[in-house]
Amino acid sequence: MQIFGVDIGGSGIKGAPVDLDRGDLAKERHKVLTPHPATPEAVVEGVREVVEHFGWTGPVGATFPGVITDGTARTAANVDKSWIGTDIRKLVSDRLGGTPVTVLNDADAAGVAEMHFGAGKGRTGTVLMLTLGTGIGSALFTGGRLVPNTELGHLELHGHDAEKKASSKAREDEDLTWEHWARRVQKYLAHVEMLFSPELFIIGGGVSRKAHKFLPLIEGISAEIVPAQLQNNAGIVGAAMAADGRA
Ligand code: BGC
Repeated sequence: MQIFGVDIGGSGIKGAPVDLDRGDLAKERHKVLTPHPATPEAVVEGVREVVEHFGWTGPVGATFPGVITDGTARTAANVDKSWIGTDIRKLVSDRLGGTPVTVLNDADAAGVAEMHFGAGKGRTGTVLMLTLGTGIGSALFTGGRLVPNTELGHLELHGHDAEKKASSKAREDEDLTWEHWARRVQKYLAHVEMLFSPELFIIGGGVSRKAHKFLPLIEGISAEIVPAQLQNNAGIVGAAMAADGRA
């Protein structure tokens, strides 16, 4: 069975039909650059372009990098503030001719995919997926069930929003060594561990491809720490799963 998944991010809008039995893309994904300014109207036009590239007319799952309740964006940390209060579910559905649309947070979507098909498969304890990218996204699971919108990237770390210090963007912007950045990630993980005592941390985001450069440097964390397995496609797969009621 296939459902369309689309991942709305600060730099790109990526999507493909997803094979829900395999947990993988059924066709090579299509990407358009996120327009700037990334207003809801402009971004939704990009979503339409991605979906129409495949001639898709069925249900669609979409991710968004902010808190989502009832298909509506409640926060917009790294995207245009005009998203706050936007009914994304309706906006996308209207633009796609009325097809059913499901919207969820981007890290939640990636986490759902990892729990079913990737690094979290079969884990029933408390699992935390953290995506280290432009911001830090989080997805919390217990008994395999998602607790949505945890937003742990905005915990305070030494007086700052944690994602401003420990995201992958912070490493690049401040030109930090892997050692320096790993120390920050370690402090962040210690804080999150103190709050939730997970049995497993899954580290996602583009930087998870380079996990060998920083995960071995992280010490003093009791939980197991592993890189995400689905990497770039986790958001797309998770969005399609959510549209099929599997989130
Ligand atoms: C947002 C989260 C999002 C994360 C990763 C944060 O700034 O608040 O909702 O999951 O970035 O994109």
